[in-house]
Amino acid sequence: MAEKIIMMASQRRAPPAIPAVLETPTGLLSDQLARPLHDLRISVTDRCNFRCVYCMPKEVFDKDYQYLPHTSLLSFEEITRLAKTFIAHGVEKIRLTGGEPLLRKNIERLIAMLAELKTVHGKPLDLTLTTNASLLARKAQSLKDAGLQRITVSLDALDNTVFQRMNDVDFSVDDVLHGIDVAHQVGLGPVKINMVVKAGMNDQEILPMARHFKHTPYILRFIEYMDVGASNGWKMDEVIPSAEVVSRIHAEMPLEALSANYTGETAARWRYADGAGEIGVISSVSHAFCRDCTRARLSTEGKLYTCLFASSGHDLRALLRDGRSDAEIGTVLAHLWRARGDRYSELRTNNTDGLEARAAKVEMSYIGG
Ligand code: GTP
Ligand code: 5AD
Ligand code: SF4
Ligand code: SF4
Repeated sequence: MAEKIIMMASQRRAPPAIPAVLETPTGLLSDQLARPLHDLRISVTDRCNFRCVYCMPKEVFDKDYQYLPHTSLLSFEEITRLAKTFIAHGVEKIRLTGGEPLLRKNIERLIAMLAELKTVHGKPLDLTLTTNASLLARKAQSLKDAGLQRITVSLDALDNTVFQRMNDVDFSVDDVLHGIDVAHQVGLGPVKINMVVKAGMNDQEILPMARHFKHTPYILRFIEYMDVGASNGWKMDEVIPSAEVVSRIHAEMPLEALSANYTGETAARWRYADGAGEIGVISSVSHAFCRDCTRARLSTEGKLYTCLFASSGHDLRALLRDGRSDAEIGTVLAHLWRARGDRYSELRTNNTDGLEARAAKVEMSYIGG
């Protein structure tokens, strides 16, 4: 029904009102698996200055690759308007992603607009961003001043050769480490570090990374390489299960399990037994966490995706640009979330041969990580 409404909205100049029967009072939502809407991840650009092999392999994302034209992108005003609607329906955390979000011009202006919003409980949003840190050292202070609360940095190796083999650019690990330190100093903590582990590419860096970030305030998280998108050529035997990552580290630096900070947290948390810090493992392949997935994703051009592995999204930009009211957009959002039954990773775990729609899955750089 909601898709029908969106089609109507995108095809007509003066759209009819959303049928009253669909009107939903503003309120908290629950999907088909009783999962609330809690997090919104907003991709602000589909461009990136890195070419990570697991995300934007250079053979696909080459000089002829067609990125979205500027007019397709949601403006900051459009993003903020949608964010308000999501917040009215329960969102308490917003993460800006990309591509590389710091490449979006004047991103600080968007952050300042979002930082003013309050959750339905009257609290400030948990407002954060995932970056490759190429622009972080120079932007950290202005991001903090704009109202960003914390930051997550992608870093796949400490060794420059391995790092550059993972991301195909001539950027140095020292510059990423410097960006992390500056972010911490200006108060964008706790800084989290994401390391995607791909067997045979960077798994020899697991222990050096763990040793390096032990005794620091930074939280290193090891992510299982995922079959997201259609261009990274994912194979199951390139995944190192988190249990193995934990056991490799534990053998040298004993670990103890910690409980989750909140229901639906992607990372399982561990602390060093000697009190020297915390790590996390994100096991979306070996231990799917769909059961508690409360994340909605808004693509760069304003499509709502209810799963990272979806092949199609729902065009909210069409509603905005057709002059729909906030109440009407809220009604559509409510119906989409209530209809949601996504649990791709759980199905993958149960049936590794039968992955349907592999070719059609949307790319991570478009939908956000
Ligand atoms: P915190 O608020 O810091 O706990 O953030 P987070 O756990 O949402 O972390 P982040 O956004 O850094 O996500 C880390 C990684 O987990 C992403 O880059 C993805 O690789 C993976 N991830 C995040 N959300 C999902 C999800 O809904 N499904 C799957 N399969 N993977 C996800
Ligand atoms: N598998 C796992 N994580 C991925 N990311 C991007 N592509 C993949 C993939 N194929 C995540 C990484 C990176 C963030 C931007 O997206 O965590 O830090
Ligand atoms: Fe860029 Fe991040 Fe994707 Fe790497 S993982 S290509 S840094 S968006
Ligand atoms: Fe959520 Fe889809 Fe990831 Fe499962 S696979 S955790 S439903 S985004």
